[in-house]
Amino acid sequence: MIKYQEIIDNISSGVKKAKNKGTVASYIPELAKVDGNKFGIHLIDASKNSYSAADASEKFSIQSISKVLSLTLCFSIVGNDIWKRINVEPSGSPFNHLSLLEFEKGIPRNPFNNDGAIVVADILISKLKNPKVDFLVFLQKLCNDATITYNKKVAESERITGFKNFAAANLLKSFGNLHNDVEIVLDFYFHLCAIEMNCEQLAKAFFIFMNHGKCLQGETYLNINQIKRINALMLTCGFYDEAGEFAFEVGLPGKSGVGGGIAAVLPNKYTVVTWAPGLNEKGNSKLGMLALEQLTTQTQQSIF
Ligand code: DON
Repeated sequence: MIKYQEIIDNISSGVKKAKNKGTVASYIPELAKVDGNKFGIHLIDASKNSYSAADASEKFSIQSISKVLSLTLCFSIVGNDIWKRINVEPSGSPFNHLSLLEFEKGIPRNPFNNDGAIVVADILISKLKNPKVDFLVFLQKLCNDATITYNKKVAESERITGFKNFAAANLLKSFGNLHNDVEIVLDFYFHLCAIEMNCEQLAKAFFIFMNHGKCLQGETYLNINQIKRINALMLTCGFYDEAGEFAFEVGLPGKSGVGGGIAAVLPNKYTVVTWAPGLNEKGNSKLGMLALEQLTTQTQQSIF
């Protein structure tokens, strides 16, 4: 039996002493208000036991981690048709880079760079009656938690500073790969990024990725092949131009967000979420990556 609680307690007290905790994101002004000293970690194992340390129950802006959840809903509705509009290759570029999109004629490299996630939002708008409400209902059901919601202030902060995302959406539109209005798609995309959850809630949401598509309550959301594809995308594209480094150091499929969260899974074993708001140069949580490297090293378990 691996002593997860002891391990995450040790990791937590160790990383909190780090001198360089990275830099809290400031290009979305609301995010700059967050305390850079926070650190939380929550792990749920295959037997549904929970292990928590430090600030694991404090809510934060999940940002790009929501891209995995919107992709999940989209994939469950449209199936493989999604890949006609989005590719599945790592970009090797920052999350908001646009030159590849122009070169590749409006087909985003993958669903986790901003352009790809904007196309996912566009598809969901075409398929859902009331996208913002329907998405929240999906997420609340997945986690069995009706308290999960959007932070309107963060969504608005993103809208007024979201010049690059407007550029991406307009570029997609010019290539015919955005079917709804730019303003409407981005409003939904910004709200998805502005969802607030804590480490425990996110670990519950990501349980399906380690449990062949079945959530904690036993309901099936995606089939085994679809889960395989999403985990492959997390491994190859979940950390943008640092996906190789994350695979090298940590060895788990995962997804980061500029709010400082990282959600990762070891299929059949556990789902784990860290939160530490300070980011490295690539926009991924500095202490989160360090903590997860220590977790896979100390438990001697990874997908490799
Ligand atoms: O659109 C953006 O730039 C943000 N709402 C999300 C970016 C993000 O989280 C990148 N992840 N590390």
